[in-house]
Amino acid sequence: MSIDLLKGKKIVVMGVANKKSIAWGCAKAIKELGGEVILTYQNDRMKTSLERFVDAETPMVECDVIDDANVEKAFAEIKDIAGGKIDGVIHAVAYADRDTLQNGVINTKQAGFNLAADISSYSLISVSREAAKIMNEHGSIVTLTYMGSTYAIPNYNMMGIAKAALESAMRYLAVELGEQGINVNAISAGAVRTLAVTGVKGHSDLLKTSESLTTDGKSVSKQEIGNTAAFLLSDLATGITGDVIYADKGVHLFSTK
Ligand SMILES: NC(=O)c1ccc[n+]([C@@H]2O[C@H](COP(=O)([O-])OP(=O)(O)OC[C@H]3O[C@@H](n4cnc5c(N)ncnc54)[C@H](O)[C@@H]3O)[C@@H](O)[C@H]2O)c1
Repeated sequence: MSIDLLKGKKIVVMGVANKKSIAWGCAKAIKELGGEVILTYQNDRMKTSLERFVDAETPMVECDVIDDANVEKAFAEIKDIAGGKIDGVIHAVAYADRDTLQNGVINTKQAGFNLAADISSYSLISVSREAAKIMNEHGSIVTLTYMGSTYAIPNYNMMGIAKAALESAMRYLAVELGEQGINVNAISAGAVRTLAVTGVKGHSDLLKTSESLTTDGKSVSKQEIGNTAAFLLSDLATGITGDVIYADKGVHLFSTK
């Protein structure tokens, strides 16, 4: 593609762990459409992974969202790198520990619930708060969700609860930040193979079933999810806020097949 849809826009992309990450699909789409990307990574291990395939010109900032202070520090650094202002954020961050994710909602313990909710839901609030301080008008914040927020998808468990909270937070943030001309939306992506998805018990079955429920029998690609994100970051989407946009090739249309 050679359209300069995002020319001049500075976008923070959070959640690239490796080349299979949805956030990497977003970063690639943003760059292809003329945008500038600032990546954030969780810790040194992720930084090492990123250094293997991210070009040296792309700025990278550490941001473990478990702590508000880290988010504040990261966005202060991002402000300097961006020369004062940014135009958008991709929030593609989620986590639940294996026991919490795999042992059924009924066995979820308080600590596991809180950890998953902190990282997967609350972090959209802390990130939006810091991002809004340095966001240009017509800024756009986009988070990643899954239809396990609404349906009881087998084995999605605690992450479904976290995604429901994430989507609700997204709607409230859209109302509050709308006063500042910032749009907030979520992309409900179809199931794709990433590091995060391997934490879901029976993820191969989930991926297979999901693919079989697409309208054309082929899973949505990370590039397609990235293109949806690029659209939501662009000036073409200023009329869309507080919404969940499906990028799943129609999987959400079918209960069974
Ligand atoms: N893979 C799918 O099928 C699918 C479908 C719908 C939605 N999603 C969502 O897409 C988003 C991206 O996930 P992915 O599938 O690309 O997997 P991924 O494993 O590539 O990305 C998850 C990212 O979250 C980051 N992360 C976890 N804890 C963090 C913390 N404390 N601080 C900062 N970053 C942290 C990881 O470092 C990683 O980069 C997630 O919100 C996920 O729930 C994924």
